[in-house]
Amino acid sequence: MSEVCIIGTGRYIPEEQVTNEDLSSLVDTTDEWIRTRTGIQTRYIATNENTSHLAAKAAKKAMINAGISEKEIDLIIVATMTPDGAMPSTACLVQHYLGAHQAACFDLSAACSGFIYALSVATQFLKTSLYNCALVIGAETISKVMNWQDRSTCVLFGDGAGAVVIQQSQEKGIESIYLGSDGRGHDLLQCEGWPLQNPMHRRELFKKATEGVFPKMTMKGKEVFQFALKRVPYCIQKVLEEGDYGVEEMDHIILHQANDRILESVAKKMKIPQEKFYSNIHRYGNTSAASIPIALDEMREQNILQKGEKLILVGFGGGLTWGAILLTW
Ligand code: ACO
Repeated sequence: MSEVCIIGTGRYIPEEQVTNEDLSSLVDTTDEWIRTRTGIQTRYIATNENTSHLAAKAAKKAMINAGISEKEIDLIIVATMTPDGAMPSTACLVQHYLGAHQAACFDLSAACSGFIYALSVATQFLKTSLYNCALVIGAETISKVMNWQDRSTCVLFGDGAGAVVIQQSQEKGIESIYLGSDGRGHDLLQCEGWPLQNPMHRRELFKKATEGVFPKMTMKGKEVFQFALKRVPYCIQKVLEEGDYGVEEMDHIILHQANDRILESVAKKMKIPQEKFYSNIHRYGNTSAASIPIALDEMREQNILQKGEKLILVGFGGGLTWGAILLTW
């Protein structure tokens, strides 16, 4: 079995910045409510780019950072819950934009845990030597599935993309992985797809769908919050146990950026100094599958990550899904 290392990171954030003040002119909310409940101050919204465009731009930067060309990419996985469409996959569009013509490409759907799932899947392909080099991207344009009249969700999310290049290596890299799901919680976070509708089935639904009424995202925020407080420490514990490490040996913990209060509670519960948790939610909001690779790229750029340091990445979200990866940088 080969070792697998992250050799490059990149991110791309769309230009349009939306502040809490901007949102207070759309729905009955305030900057104070949003900041104190979540930590979010601004988010960025795509206005003329789709998920594939954001994903390809983040991927290009990760490839430049890794110093590899499109010809070296064997596999592209895009983790997203907001693909450009049902077909082709967003990953195939990214492949086309990058010119990585020899890569195998597919999308992966695990909501806000998507990046952790995608990185785990790609790692298996490399560990077994089927492939040498993969692009793993988390990219979302959640703005297109947002109900902009629902103040309990529309203030939380933002658009963006983050990417990593991983490669087979002699050195220690991704060490332990833990994934979990519970479909019994499917209705806590939802964005339905196309309803079963056709002229042979139910005419009224067919008419509605052809009038362009698209499903929007819904969330039972309190329940998701409680789920995260329970699951995140469990995920961290699982990868520590598998790697035979103590929590004090970890240098950084990167949680999916959903809410600063989740991060604070986990730090307190697990007695981990809060400085070990990176947070950028104040700038971007919750970018779902993109949040962890965006954070990784910022940390690399700011020299927060040093070679040999140990990190844990933790995702949680719709499905319900959750997962963690422990790695040496
Ligand atoms: N502005 C002002 N008031 C608001 C807003 C808003 N934007 N949104 C809700 N409120 C009101 C509610 O209506 C409620 O009013 P009421 O008491 O009169 O009924 C009040 O504020 C309190 O609402 P709560 O839901 O109790 O607020 P809470 O403290 O639970 O915070 C939040 C809500 C921020 C959504 C929190 O529950 C949360 O962060 N949940 C987790 C989200 C998450 O982790 N998501 C990750 C996965 S995302 C994915 O997988 C796609």
